[in-house]
Amino acid sequence: MVKVAVVGASGGIGQPLSLLLKLNPYVSELALYDVRLAKGVAQDLSHISTNAECRGYDKEEIGQALKGAQVVLIPAGVPRKPGMTRDDLFKINAGIVRGICSSIAQYCPSARVLVISNPVNSTVPIAAETLKAAGCFSAGNVMGVTTLDVVRAETFLADYLNASKRGGLTRQFDKTRMQKDVTVIGGHSGTTIVPVLLGSSLNAALGAEYGKFVHRVQFGGDEVVKAKEGAGSATLSMALAGYRFAEQVLRSIHRESTDPLPAFVYLPGLENGSAAQKKLKDTVDYFALPITLVDGRAAKVDSTVLDRLSAQEHQLVERAVLELSTSIQKGTGFVVGGS
Ligand code: NAD
Ligand code: LMR
Repeated sequence: MVKVAVVGASGGIGQPLSLLLKLNPYVSELALYDVRLAKGVAQDLSHISTNAECRGYDKEEIGQALKGAQVVLIPAGVPRKPGMTRDDLFKINAGIVRGICSSIAQYCPSARVLVISNPVNSTVPIAAETLKAAGCFSAGNVMGVTTLDVVRAETFLADYLNASKRGGLTRQFDKTRMQKDVTVIGGHSGTTIVPVLLGSSLNAALGAEYGKFVHRVQFGGDEVVKAKEGAGSATLSMALAGYRFAEQVLRSIHRESTDPLPAFVYLPGLENGSAAQKKLKDTVDYFALPITLVDGRAAKVDSTVLDRLSAQEHQLVERAVLELSTSIQKGTGFVVGGS
């Protein structure tokens, strides 16, 4: 049984994500931490008749929330408003993520850390460098959650192919056709998001719609930000996506087989010896690729997806890498340079 902590639990993502985690049979203790309202959210969820023991922790109680946590999800920080890029959130969220990861280093240094806060392309390096500085970094433990891009890719691919959608919570809905047809690699922002079609006939099936499909996956987040008119960004679809990833981690801790979902991870710690990965690693240290989980940790990345890219997908990866290196350096420099 597993203690899971959600940091930023009272927010738009934190609340529905905590609800989904309260329903998971592998969670024995659910620690909800936020700088505001976490006790109320926990009290509310504690009335649900599942076994996870749910407790809320106030601002000063992060140590108690994190102590003994085996999995920590971080949806803490500010979301975008219309007209902003994810990078515009760096100013506030970089410090928030660094502070939380310092506490993780202190109270649960070997926890699996699932980073949701944006800009993911920088906050994951911030998390890694903070843990490195504290002497407790392990590449397999730090995973940037990019599952929402996969969920969107499945949805939009089905839309353009006029196919039915059967994605969602893997246990309930089992493996879907869409999950096998598409994955998303790269990063989590605009053109760093690279959808990859896995079925050989899909490119032809999309035909002239291919460009529109790619654009919707890359800029799906903007659609939500615009529609919410200043009240934030994706929360409900993100809660589902974050849960889908966390559920795989929990299943892996319990030695169950898992789906190869991508995550934004530190490549040098997760070698698989392939030429494609070596080439990628010469350009960027972090990249989202499908990962194999062992004991809930990223054990290796599956870079075979890089060997089967179409010419268009190759171009998308090249563009992604250019933008990613700047965001990664910005995140690393924030901790290493002490900004
Ligand atoms: P929100 O404002 O609704 O919630 C954020 C919560 O974090 C708030 O309850 C706030 O009190 C809390 N918080 C702030 N500082 C904190 C700290 N130091 N410790 C603990 N909690 C703290 O925002 P949201 O819509 O839930 O989004 C949260 C973050 O997730 C944003 O940065 C957003 O851009 C990001 N996001 C990422 C993805 C993704 O795919 N990875 C998707 C959607 C949103
Ligand atoms: C998303 O992809 O929906 C999130 O990263 C939130 C955002 O700012 O778009």
